[in-house]
Amino acid sequence: YTVAMDATDISKGTYDSYMSKEIDEQPAVLRRIAKEYYRDQQPVISPDLIAEMKQADRIYIVAAGTSYHAGLVGQELFEELANVPAEVKLASEFGHHLGKLSQRPFFIFLTQSGETADSRQVLVQTKALKYPSLTVTNVANSTLARESDYALLLHAGPEIAVASTKAYTAQIAVQAILAQALGQALNYQPKHPIDVLNQLGLAANAIQTVIDQKDKLEKLTEDYFDKHDRAFFIGRGNGYMVALEAALKLKEVSYIHAEGFAAGELKHGTIALIENQTPVVAFILEEATAAHTRGNVKEVVSRGAHTLTIAKKSLAQSDDTIVLDDLNELLMPLVAIIPGQLFAYFAAKHRGNDVDQPRNLAKSVTVE
Ligand code: G6P
Repeated sequence: YTVAMDATDISKGTYDSYMSKEIDEQPAVLRRIAKEYYRDQQPVISPDLIAEMKQADRIYIVAAGTSYHAGLVGQELFEELANVPAEVKLASEFGHHLGKLSQRPFFIFLTQSGETADSRQVLVQTKALKYPSLTVTNVANSTLARESDYALLLHAGPEIAVASTKAYTAQIAVQAILAQALGQALNYQPKHPIDVLNQLGLAANAIQTVIDQKDKLEKLTEDYFDKHDRAFFIGRGNGYMVALEAALKLKEVSYIHAEGFAAGELKHGTIALIENQTPVVAFILEEATAAHTRGNVKEVVSRGAHTLTIAKKSLAQSDDTIVLDDLNELLMPLVAIIPGQLFAYFAAKHRGNDVDQPRNLAKSVTVE
């Protein structure tokens, strides 16, 4: 593989940070992925890779950090679009506890850098066991890309900021395309088919709409996060997955203690932490669970929480703080994470933190 890279890819241009630039690049990245992976409206994936994946009775997605959160979304896509059971594993745990694998496992290593040691040590083991593997990465000649049987590129362009943003959305997009291609090869008719190519275009526009509201998001950051040293993010289903990633972003760059919770689990313990003015962000992204999540919002409001709701348009109420354009529910994380990325960026900036090089963190962690 070769990746075209010019000076504009690695300069900050007029931006104050790479993180801010990379957040803004996401619509362009999704359009580039659509261009790279489709011919005549059909996904183009190597036939050898698809043939190998067709043999699998289970897909194991192995990842760390933000890539793990993208994997949570991918798991659902493989099950829904290809009808193949899938599970996501934290590389640092899985390597030491492979557990009982299925008869014919297929391993996907999701890694922006392609260098994460925790992920690589799993690959070393699965290779020794002669199991097939694919690395989905942003770096063509990275260690994991070279050592796995197959590689797919994210085409996100160099990601310089330590906190991952555009690689997350790119990972979701590439997994959706791969799941679609696999489902087609297996002649599987999804119960709720997704026109992935069309959705990527819609997602690019929906993300741009959020980015265009930066002034509002900066003001919300002042109201909700600047004055506090903690925040909770809640949701169900895809809303829960986004809650985990939004909390991670806030922790990484603003150093605010943030946690993502499954909204239904609040009552089983975490709600004890809710006090007057505790910031709680709720994601309402799926029809099936919207009413339940709204109920959880009421529970925290009645305990004094300062709540901010992020809802997809078709489920929105007049008092929702942020309304997102509708995408297919499985792909809502593509747009729902954008406010989370921007809250983290603004909160870090307002605190005077080094947005691109947060303390204690490295872009790729090459030790276990
Ligand atoms: C590091 C980075 C994270 C990243 C994680 C996984 O901890 O700071 O931003 O999500 O590694 O990296 P990878 O390159 O494997 O996606």
